[in-house]
Amino acid sequence: MKFSLDALGLVQVPFLPASASIGDALRLCGDHYGSLLSVLASDGSLFGIVTPGDLRKALLNGKPLTERLEKVANKTPVTLNAADIDSASKVTATIEALKRCYPHGIIQHALVPVIGDQSQILGFVNVQTLSNLVSEVPLAISQRSVLIIGGAGYIGSILSRLLLEDGWTVRVVDALLYGKEPLIGLDGPRLDFRHANALNIDTLVDAVENVDAVVYLAELVGDPACSLAPQTALKTNYLSVTAAAHLCAYLNINRFVYTSSCSVYGASSDPDVFLNEESPTAPVSLYGKIKIMVEEAVLGMTLAPNHTFAPTILRLGTVFGLSYRPRFDLVVNTFVKDAAKTGHIEVFGGNQWRPQVHVRDVARAIVHVLDAPLDKVRSQVFNVGSTDQNHTINDLGDFAAQVFPGLKVELKQAMVDPRNYRVNCDKIKSVLGFNTTMSVLDGMKELKAALDSGTLKDPDTAEYSNLRTLQGMDFI
Ligand SMILES: NC(=O)c1ccc[n+]([C@@H]2O[C@H](COP(=O)([O-])OP(=O)(O)OC[C@H]3O[C@@H](n4cnc5c(N)ncnc54)[C@H](O)[C@@H]3O)[C@@H](O)[C@H]2O)c1
Repeated sequence: MKFSLDALGLVQVPFLPASASIGDALRLCGDHYGSLLSVLASDGSLFGIVTPGDLRKALLNGKPLTERLEKVANKTPVTLNAADIDSASKVTATIEALKRCYPHGIIQHALVPVIGDQSQILGFVNVQTLSNLVSEVPLAISQRSVLIIGGAGYIGSILSRLLLEDGWTVRVVDALLYGKEPLIGLDGPRLDFRHANALNIDTLVDAVENVDAVVYLAELVGDPACSLAPQTALKTNYLSVTAAAHLCAYLNINRFVYTSSCSVYGASSDPDVFLNEESPTAPVSLYGKIKIMVEEAVLGMTLAPNHTFAPTILRLGTVFGLSYRPRFDLVVNTFVKDAAKTGHIEVFGGNQWRPQVHVRDVARAIVHVLDAPLDKVRSQVFNVGSTDQNHTINDLGDFAAQVFPGLKVELKQAMVDPRNYRVNCDKIKSVLGFNTTMSVLDGMKELKAALDSGTLKDPDTAEYSNLRTLQGMDFI
């Protein structure tokens, strides 16, 4: 067997002198997932390599941003001598040595420095290329790693799957308030599930190790759930989110996605006006008020000097549709549940406008943000949905009547929820090229089909309702 240097397709990675600082290195890594830097000695030979994970570990251990790379670089990386590349046994030994560095089988920073006969660095070879030369067995490689806090919920259980399909390594932290079922079928070497409470600081600190991005979803979700347990809401929905964001800002984990809500717009004074991200906010509930507090706190963290933190705020419309963690406590889904079970729905108030967005489209929007160049999403607020998917509650009743012919729609005068707003979602479309794929009618038909198929439990079961589950729980 004869290998040539050309066949290795060497790549060059950014480099810095050993005298440069952690801060210099993090700025250089910037926008690149799974980035790797070579650290050069004063004579130009390879001093070591360093990854963002190494740099963050050093920060976590009390090193300042000014610490020199010579103190934190990996000085004994697995390397390959150019002279050895036509030796299958040497190449195999290199791959085996690399695997030992990644005991979980995921070779995240899988670039191997190739060293010339003068100790100079010729470039880096991808370990997959090496593996292809000597074996048919593919290596598990992921260059992007994300932590989803609350990844077993309504949105998170879909998001986890989409990100795994998209090639990410996914770590889920979830207290499983609504059971483990949403994660059934999710496994493999790129999934790391941790059954833990996000209120625990140790959990958060452990969970961010080696991740490039964090998505925070673990909250008491919805006005009724927050009103039931305001102190727990303050802890999970404010203190825990902001603690996670502070941790990311401190460690220079730049990507932080926070799912806020269009609830922040509250009872709009003129619902004929479409509200955009610049419009005034006027939340009417504790849930909405905490959302604004978090938005301000997280965006405020970008002002700290020396930080490259780049959070993104997504203001979701009211979510509907089927998920691996079904919810039947959201207006569209409740109409389908009641229509299917009783042939009768009650429409309260009726004229209030609300933007609607399918749960899978929400998960897709988060993937869009994680895949976007950092400059497009840094400190940005996006309404998530589609401008043409604002509907009154009466409209939703009409849609339900189309899906369930003969449905009895009862109009009730009592207004139980004062939120009334129409939302413009053009920014996420123009900046990120994001379009929704599912209408309310699509979502209702999909839910009806799932109920008809018998694969779901009784839709009135408590675990499909956040409020009813939490009412019976020590957690709060
Ligand atoms: N569903 C909607 O209509 C909607 C609308 C706007 C915004 N959002 C936002 O989207 C996010 C996710 O919402 P969802 O509908 O998926 O909610 P969900 O209730 O289905 O999921 C929340 C998940 O977080 C977990 N969790 C809660 N507290 C935790 C804790 N302390 N530690 C660990 N895990 C914990 C739960 O077990 C659950 O799996 C929330 O931030 C919510 O405010 C949702």
